[in-house]
Amino acid sequence: MPVVSVINYKGGVGKTTLTANLGAELAFRGKNVLLIDLDPQASLTFSLVKPDYWKNDLAPNKTIKRWYDSLASGASLKLSSLIFEPPTMKRLMPRNRGSLHLIPSHLGLINVDLELATELGGGTLKQNKLKYLRVHRRLSEGLLEQDFEQYDVILIDCPPNFNVVTKTAIVASQYVLIPAKADYLSTMGIDFLIHSLNELVGSYNDYADLEDGGVEIEKIKPEILGVVFTMIQMYADRPIAALRQYMAQTSSLGVPVFTNHVRENKTLFAEAPREGVPVVMKPTAGTGKVIVGELEALVAEFAAKLGI
Ligand SMILES: Nc1ncnc2c1ncn2[C@@H]1O[C@H](COP(=O)(O)OP(=O)(O)O)[C@@H](O)[C@H]1O
Ligand SMILES: [Mg+2]
Repeated sequence: MPVVSVINYKGGVGKTTLTANLGAELAFRGKNVLLIDLDPQASLTFSLVKPDYWKNDLAPNKTIKRWYDSLASGASLKLSSLIFEPPTMKRLMPRNRGSLHLIPSHLGLINVDLELATELGGGTLKQNKLKYLRVHRRLSEGLLEQDFEQYDVILIDCPPNFNVVTKTAIVASQYVLIPAKADYLSTMGIDFLIHSLNELVGSYNDYADLEDGGVEIEKIKPEILGVVFTMIQMYADRPIAALRQYMAQTSSLGVPVFTNHVRENKTLFAEAPREGVPVVMKPTAGTGKVIVGELEALVAEFAAKLGI
């Protein structure tokens, strides 16, 4: 059950679109996939579930916010009790394939970050280090429930920041996937993100040497699976020159880069969330067919890297 965090500091780089398409195509290939929406903007949730359904059936008590809240108040809600199968995906997924499940997000998740941050302060140095470990391990411990063992892969759509909730995702992950645009600021952003990741892993592992009530805490070692370039403009079957220089520059940072990328197409990608169907699941012709083929190749590369 590999856990993969999909992360970038920047919003609007195609994280959610990539997560939805990876999940849907992997399920189509027979895998049991769980998506966790950790972004308070809840774009992944709204890409798979109609707003009315979310409001009436999920928002009151079936979102990840409820689980973080319950931990803070000492109640013990099971994380797996929030798993839900989006009706559109259930309907579209042919028999004898895999499944796509979701733990939905909530717009109020933004407050959870603040609450977790306040939990971190106010004690002796040793107490603070132990609090740091406990807070950052929350999601990782939640995922130890037996119900999660049925999944071939768990994908976490992270918010566009490096706050505590994002860190709980990284601590719970064996892999990190970085969707990015190929431009100047994004290339700088990747460098900065990797720096922050290393810092998190460094402090966490340093603190993990402290035993928590005699319980040994395992160190973390999330591996960067690679950068996936998104919204790529093509000319004569390859990315335009202005983008190629940034793609090359990213490789020269020493970060693994996926061979396949996501092509830009406003019409197809902008419409998909409204219909609740990721592009890769849509029957298309012409350019649409080319794009679906490219997404399939990207998912195959992802699956091969994960060994699933
Ligand atoms: N390959 C693409 N081509 C064109 N538009 C895209 C593409 N991927 C995503 N988009 C659009 O860009 C916007 C941001 O994408 P999204 O996946 O929500 O990014 P993020 O999760 O990083 O904020 C959305 O409106 C989405 O429909
Ligand atoms: Mg998003």
